Amino acid sequence: VNKPRIGIIIGSIRPGRKGEVIANWVFEIASRRTDAAFEIVDLRDYPLPIYNEAVSAMHGALDPTWSMPEYVVPWAEKIRSLDGFIFVTPEYNRSTSSVLKNALDYLYCDWNNKAAGFVGYGGVGGARAVEHLRNMAAELQIATVRGQVPVSTIHDYENFTDFSPSPFLPRMIDGMLDQLVAWSNALIPLRAAAGTFEPAGVSDDDR
Ligand SMILES: Cc1cc2nc3c(=O)[nH]c(=O)nc-3n(C[C@H](O)[C@H](O)[C@H](O)COP(=O)(O)O)c2cc1C
Repeated sequence: VNKPRIGIIIGSIRPGRKGEVIANWVFEIASRRTDAAFEIVDLRDYPLPIYNEAVSAMHGALDPTWSMPEYVVPWAEKIRSLDGFIFVTPEYNRSTSSVLKNALDYLYCDWNNKAAGFVGYGGVGGARAVEHLRNMAAELQIATVRGQVPVSTIHDYENFTDFSPSPFLPRMIDGMLDQLVAWSNALIPLRAAAGTFEPAGVSDDDR
């Protein structure tokens, strides 16, 4: 039986980022499960310029003469290989990070008809960042589960530096993963039927 492959995407590349410790903690808890295969996806490993493409990935997919820029290919291949995502997002100015938004914008079909859950962190558990990400996911045709895990940069740290997660957070991760694994599985046959590399549900005159 093929298990869904779920990427835990670290939404910060800052030196000293809190996101790496949080993502590793999510990975450790997720890896106790046997119903999916989890991996960390570090945006530091996929450096992309600030998005300035002449043709969007969605339009490109509709044009047989278009090919994806070479520097985007490793990122596209990574996302294409996954069935679902956990976005581990910081909150910067009440939204997600620019580096994560940038990475989202580069691809289209590779996100379509997959599932996602969220781990947010910040003063209010990254709640506002996650709300913005849910909107972005709607356009990318990513199905977002209800569950999300709020890590507080106030309550879940000692001296604001040492990560000391509240005891209820692992249970929230598992609740989110129950939904995420189920939806990731459910969408695999849908993608097979739709054809993965054409923009799902988009026609030429949509935009
Ligand atoms: C540019 C910037 C803007 C921020 N804005 C917010 C904010 O609006 N809300 C919030 O809760 N935290 C905010 N923070 C604090 C971040 O949540 C905190 O620095 C966190 O550690 C960032 O994640 P990272 O360390 O993984 O990059 C901001 C931080 C930065 C650098």
